[in-house]
Order: sequence, then C-alpha cells, then structure tokens
Amino acid sequence: MKRITTLQIQQKKTNNEKIVMLTAYDALSATLAEQAGIDLLLVGDSLGMVVLGYDSTVPVTMEDIIHHTKPVVASTRYAHVVADMPFGSYQSGWKDAMRNAVHLMKSTGASSVKLEGGKRIAETVEKLVNAGIPVMGHIGLTPQSVNTLGGYKIQGKTPRSAVKLIADAKSLEEAGAYAVVLETIPAALSHMITSRLNIPTIGIGAGPYCSGQVQVFHDILGLYKDFNPKHARQFINGSNLLTNAIKEYKNSVEDSSFPTADESFFMEERNIKLINSMMENEPVVNSMQDAPMSEKQD
Ligand code: KIV
Repeated sequence: MKRITTLQIQQKKTNNEKIVMLTAYDALSATLAEQAGIDLLLVGDSLGMVVLGYDSTVPVTMEDIIHHTKPVVASTRYAHVVADMPFGSYQSGWKDAMRNAVHLMKSTGASSVKLEGGKRIAETVEKLVNAGIPVMGHIGLTPQSVNTLGGYKIQGKTPRSAVKLIADAKSLEEAGAYAVVLETIPAALSHMITSRLNIPTIGIGAGPYCSGQVQVFHDILGLYKDFNPKHARQFINGSNLLTNAIKEYKNSVEDSSFPTADESFFMEERNIKLINSMMENEPVVNSMQDAPMSEKQD
C-alpha cells in the first residue's frame, strides 16, 4: 500500500476531514499507531524527553532522529512519516538545513521533515521545498527555543504576538510548507490562522478549530504517572496498567506460579534418564525441589 502523501493530507482540509497525527519513536509505537489508523506519524524531537530522559528537546541530535525514524518507517506501510529536524540542524542557514534534511530523508525513508519557526526560516523552507523535500512548519510554542521563550508558556496571547504568529503562518504557507503545527496558543488564534490559510493546521494545545491534532504517544496513553499536560487527554492510564502487570509478573516468579507446564518445553523421559546416567559422576551442587518436566507431563 502506498503511503499517505502531502496532497492527500491537504485534501483532508478541503474535505473538512480531521487530520490525526501522533508521535512514534520505534517499531512498537509506530505499529500500534498504524494499526489504529493514524494518518501521520511524527518522529518528534520530544523523543529527547519521553524516550531519552532529557529535560528538553535541545540536546537531541541528527543521529538520534535518524536512529528512531528508521524503525518507524520500517514497521509501517501506510502512514506518512514526518521526521523532526533537531535543534542545531537548520538554525544556521539553508545550506546546513539542506544537507541535514537530504541526509535525513535519504537515510530513513521519512516522507517529510518538520522545522520550528516562522518568517525567520521561510527562506530555508522555500529552498527545501524547491529541492523536493516536503516541509511541515511549527509555530507558537516551539520547544527548541525554550531558552529564549523563558519556559513552556502559552504563545500569542497579546494582540501584537498574535498578529506576528498569523504573519509567521502565512509566510510558511507562501514558502511552500504543506501544513503547519500550532503549539500552545489560544483557540481563538488558531481559528484565525486556520481560516486564513489554505494549508492545514495541526494543533497541540491549540483548541478544536485546527484542521487536525497532534499528540505525544506517551501522553495520550498515560505512560508517565506524574506528567499530564492540560492539552493532553489520557485515554488510558497506561502507567498504572503496565506497572500492575509488571508487578504481577514479579509476584508470579517469586511465588513460582510462573512459568507453568503450559509455558515450558519438555524433553522425553528416556532422554532425561540417559543424560542422568551420562552425568552420574558429576557432582550436584544444588538439589532442586521439583523434578525436571518430562514429555509425559504434556
Ligand atoms: O517533537 C514533538 O513531539 C513535536 C510535537 C509536540 C508537535 O514537535
């Protein structure tokens, strides 16, 4: 089956169909997402926080993104896979951006790349698109700029900053971006942006008026006990469910109720006897409580 294209993604906005994007970082998350019918998989640099244990996306490298994009592409057939360009891979200008984006696309098979920033990266976006690299934009709360934004704060709350974000979105569209992520901005502002653009908007913490939504895999599955951002609904309490299952495994090993005969492999009785006679002179160091399982017990 062919992967979803940027044109099909844009068609969804035209048809008033919502676009659904979810992050994925490995074969397991990608397989689960594709089984659930997710259109777009983002190998986000959020992997720095949810997979690698960093406290921001800033340390994430090109090698990290490549390492995690490969299994996402390899384990899916239909989803459009977006690879995030990490901090430092495009900020110094379009030539660096081109080299890194080409390397990312060639070495992973990603369908497109995502860059953070508005007007200031429009020239870079245009060059990449002209070179045949589909680009998704990302404005509002741009986590790679957390150190200049002064924290993970709502963006575009004042009229001046809102007007700037509208202009940023427009310049990304003009530069050829096929869609733009709007992160942590007021719902009214994402409505204004979505209705002024032809390309789709994909919101995270940007309210219901976007053309689609993106969420972090670990957030919607409640995989981190103590992290539940306001914009992310936990559709399952994964942390409790998984921790309880692991506890049950631990208890079952400790009380010897796991593994059972059904979960074991057997040897024919005569082979057991033969081995015992061959090993007659070998000292037994530990005398086990249970007799070894023979095929007769099947
Ligand atoms: O890295 C990421 O997961 C992202 C989304 C939050 C949009 O950029």
